[in-house]
Amino acid sequence: MKILIATYSWSGRTARLADQIADRLPNADRYLITVPEGTYSATDMYATSDQATRQLTSGNYPPLVNPLPNLATYDLILVGSPVWSGHPAVPVRVFLSQLDNFKGALAPFYTDAGSAGNFEAVFVDWAGEHQVLAGQENQVNLDNWINMITKAK
Ligand SMILES: Cc1cc2nc3c(=O)[nH]c(=O)nc-3n(C[C@H](O)[C@H](O)[C@H](O)COP(=O)(O)O)c2cc1C
Repeated sequence: MKILIATYSWSGRTARLADQIADRLPNADRYLITVPEGTYSATDMYATSDQATRQLTSGNYPPLVNPLPNLATYDLILVGSPVWSGHPAVPVRVFLSQLDNFKGALAPFYTDAGSAGNFEAVFVDWAGEHQVLAGQENQVNLDNWINMITKAK
């Protein structure tokens, strides 16, 4: 099974969870979901929240900086995101809208400060026609999740 770990992280926590997942899946490839510098405040979470809300209400989304790999070659994409206002981060929405040639399944992993809100339901919505497996919140029972999603496919 060919796996891609795609990750957006604003302040580093989701990136660290992605590293822990990658340690357990040494054959997986990595893709960093990034947007142009200056899209969000580098330090202020409230300003970032306002910027993200404006993008969601206007539909004016930032582009992804890194070119996507050939997604048709993957069976499973693990998509990492922080929880922003009870849903995935906006750059993850942009990533999920660019999976036209991907035929496999998606599984989200995410970090938050205690309130995931509707993260997984919104992820499923943003994933459109793609199959979405159960998600992983923070580090709890990470090994169980990896066993489950790698067997589900
Ligand atoms: C714009 C913004 C909105 C957030 N909204 C939530 C939220 O709704 N619930 C929550 O528990 N944490 C929320 N947080 C905290 C982050 O989800 C949490 O710190 C996360 O682990 C950060 O991941 P990162 O370091 O990969 O960016 C928010 C943070 C930011 C910057």
